[in-house]
Amino acid sequence: MRHISVVAGPASVDLASKISEKLGSELVVPEIKVFPDGESKIRIPDVADTCVIVQSTYPPVDTHLVQALMMAKRCRDGGAEVCMVIPYLAYARQDRPFIEGESVTISLIAKLFAAAGAQHVMTVEIHSQLGMSYFAPLGIENVSSTRLLADHARTMNLNKPIAISPDAGGADRVKEFAHHLKCDTFTLKKSRDRATGEVKIEEPDLDCRGRDALLVDDMISSGGSIMAAAKVLRKKGASKVYALCAHALLLDDAPKKIAEAGVDGIVGTNSIPNEYAKVDLSPAIAEVLTSRYRS
Ligand code: R5P
Repeated sequence: MRHISVVAGPASVDLASKISEKLGSELVVPEIKVFPDGESKIRIPDVADTCVIVQSTYPPVDTHLVQALMMAKRCRDGGAEVCMVIPYLAYARQDRPFIEGESVTISLIAKLFAAAGAQHVMTVEIHSQLGMSYFAPLGIENVSSTRLLADHARTMNLNKPIAISPDAGGADRVKEFAHHLKCDTFTLKKSRDRATGEVKIEEPDLDCRGRDALLVDDMISSGGSIMAAAKVLRKKGASKVYALCAHALLLDDAPKKIAEAGVDGIVGTNSIPNEYAKVDLSPAIAEVLTSRYRS
């Protein structure tokens, strides 16, 4: 049988440990040193035939990213087949130049992983198909978190729930979520000022009176999208508003501002290990890894 080890990147030790338990594989925790100037050094004394390296690239984004590349290089140089599990894939939103002269950074990230020796990439709820397409030469799988989020929503004691996407980009995701939760769905119309980042949401023709609204998104970063959507839904009479997402980055004082905008609760996954990580991604990731390596 192929010897697989799950390598726990410093950003995702708990998630890696849960994945290794489910796969019945050895867990390897690399020795990591971060020097005062911010450089990281990583040591993995022994590598298996196949290394599944788990490292989410949430802030500090560039540190976690370089650590992921270093682990890929070390395992590949040691002769392993390398599969990267990067639940939150930083830079995925930079999938096209929105303003003339901008770099398509996610295409660079794909090339960096290939150069480091990664042979396969797995991520969760990637921002766009376009971003994903840059990883095609490597092979990429995008694991959905919507079923797990819907399972969690089922425990929330909701009143006539309606699942809402804050924007057109999340329309398919919210439909999948609503299918699992067996509830209604609606997609809002959002626009963002590319220079200032300001988010606007059109007031929809929607009656939310007496209903709990569940905003479903791939990620919450500054919280601007969720705040704008929550305000609109409150105006439309929603009794409660919850925000559910795969990647609850929640930068700076986003949780406070989101609560002030009328959101009653935030649910994230352990893609970002913080107090909102109420949903464990390991069953969905382990299922894909099992069909890849254990069947
Ligand atoms: C945008 O299209 C994404 O799906 C998210 O809605 C967005 O990136 C979240 O960012 P923020 O919380 O800063 O609005």
